[in-house]
Amino acid sequence: MKKKTVDILALFLTGVVCLLIIINKNDSKEEVKEKSKEKHEKLHDLTDFPRTETPQPLSTRCELNISAYNITEFSTLPDHIKDFLLYRHCKSFPMILDVPDKCGGAQNSADVFLLLVIKSSPENYDRREVLRKTWAEERLHKGVWIRRVFIIGTTQSGFEKRRLNRLLKLENNENKDILQWDFNDSFFNLTLKQILFLEWMDRRCPNARFLLNGDDDIFANTFNMIEYLQGQEDNDGRRHLFAGHLIQNVGPIRNPSSKYYVPVQIQESESYPPYCGGGGFLLSGFTARTIYNMSHSVILLPIDDVYMGMCLEKAGLKPTSHFGVRTAGLSVPAENVDKFDPCYYREIILVHRFLPHMIFVMWNEIQNPDLKCGKTNVNRTKEQGV
Ligand SMILES: *[C@@H]1O[C@H](CO)[C@@H](O)[C@H](O)[C@H]1NC(C)=O
Ligand SMILES: *[C@@H]1O[C@H](CO)[C@@H](O)[C@H](O)[C@H]1NC(C)=O
Ligand SMILES: *[C@@H]1O[C@H](CO)[C@@H](O)[C@H](O)[C@H]1NC(C)=O
Ligand SMILES: *[C@@H]1O[C@H](CO)[C@@H](O)[C@H](O)[C@H]1NC(C)=O
Ligand SMILES: *[C@@H]1O[C@H](CO)[C@@H](O)[C@H](O)[C@H]1NC(C)=O
Ligand SMILES: *[C@@H]1O[C@H](CO)[C@@H](O)[C@H](O)[C@H]1NC(C)=O
Repeated sequence: MKKKTVDILALFLTGVVCLLIIINKNDSKEEVKEKSKEKHEKLHDLTDFPRTETPQPLSTRCELNISAYNITEFSTLPDHIKDFLLYRHCKSFPMILDVPDKCGGAQNSADVFLLLVIKSSPENYDRREVLRKTWAEERLHKGVWIRRVFIIGTTQSGFEKRRLNRLLKLENNENKDILQWDFNDSFFNLTLKQILFLEWMDRRCPNARFLLNGDDDIFANTFNMIEYLQGQEDNDGRRHLFAGHLIQNVGPIRNPSSKYYVPVQIQESESYPPYCGGGGFLLSGFTARTIYNMSHSVILLPIDDVYMGMCLEKAGLKPTSHFGVRTAGLSVPAENVDKFDPCYYREIILVHRFLPHMIFVMWNEIQNPDLKCGKTNVNRTKEQGV
């Protein structure tokens, strides 16, 4: 009798233990990540050196570089610069969302003529939605395929971060166009975003012929782009092409209040190599792969477009200027002229800073067969300085 009670009790206790283990396991992976992230954030707040033996068993997150604390006047630098220096060596982050078959598999990826690679961030839902049904629509045009991916990190933390991640997951279920990695999607992490994309391309889409790399607030005339790229003599994507709004003879901005502030602690040299403005530029698959190769040995610079220029320089390649890329905006000939006259946009390739509703209107207007334009609209406009 007594032994039976003990047996039952033992059985019951085993059951409870099993249940507890199961419940613990169900604690979602994301929560685990979240916890380790919090731990990281706490580490961040320490002004003196964090102890190296701090255990980080829950993730394979890239460790911060404690030697960065030794950099001259480190403590006087703005937080985002400190962050950059502490994590400068981290070039690999886990993927949250992928579209493995975007290019029909690595083998078939040469069938993608133009891959639109659009830098977005979790909150920019309205921009992505309008691009999907305007210039970035996936389609067969003049016998070649246009494909699209948005490249995104994460923003916020806790509940808000999870909610935005759910949004992206829903969008991806519906549209199959989001590549997301688990890193803080900040301005100073844009170079990291580009490198993560290039690593993805190397695995999933190595033979795409050409790429447009740009922001989610540009107006791009993808019809003209195809025409321009198809007109490239003896370049089917296997030779060098890197074209956009060319910027030369500039160097790091040393004014701490600028968004582009790069202190000597990040780069000592006063000059940048020639590069194309990051709002949008065109490149060949060959050049993208070359930049990826170079990125293994070129130390990160937080300004992503300049970093591309550095990789090109290291490979002995040059960026070129394309007249139809207006990342500094269009300026119209006279004040009484409508700067949203579709005639200007019918001839360009790319213009920066468009609101979603204007992208929608313009995309429809440039395709209006009744649109009557003079001959040289673009040449009557002049480019604004940078
Ligand atoms: C920081 O500098 C001090 C003094 O030069 C040196 O002893 C220490 O090892 C350095 N710490 C790290 C983490 O590089
Ligand atoms: C860590 O930071 C120091 C100081 O900037 C730098 O010399 C070193 O190369 C960095 N280590 C890594 C692994 O990037
Ligand atoms: C991400 O980076 C930005 C800019 O450096 C910072 O303000 C923000 O707090 C960071 N977010 C997280 C979750 O670390
Ligand atoms: C870049 O992202 C990583 C991972 O989220 C983060 O630790 C780091 O602080 C970010 N860097 C900047 C400069 O925002
Ligand atoms: C990149 O590097 C690898 C090996 O280092 C090489 O096989 C490949 O041809 C390189 N690609 C380009 C485009 O330079
Ligand atoms: C516009 O100007 C460029 C060079 O300034 C020239 O190559 C091009 O042919 C002109 N386009 C038209 C339509 O006149």
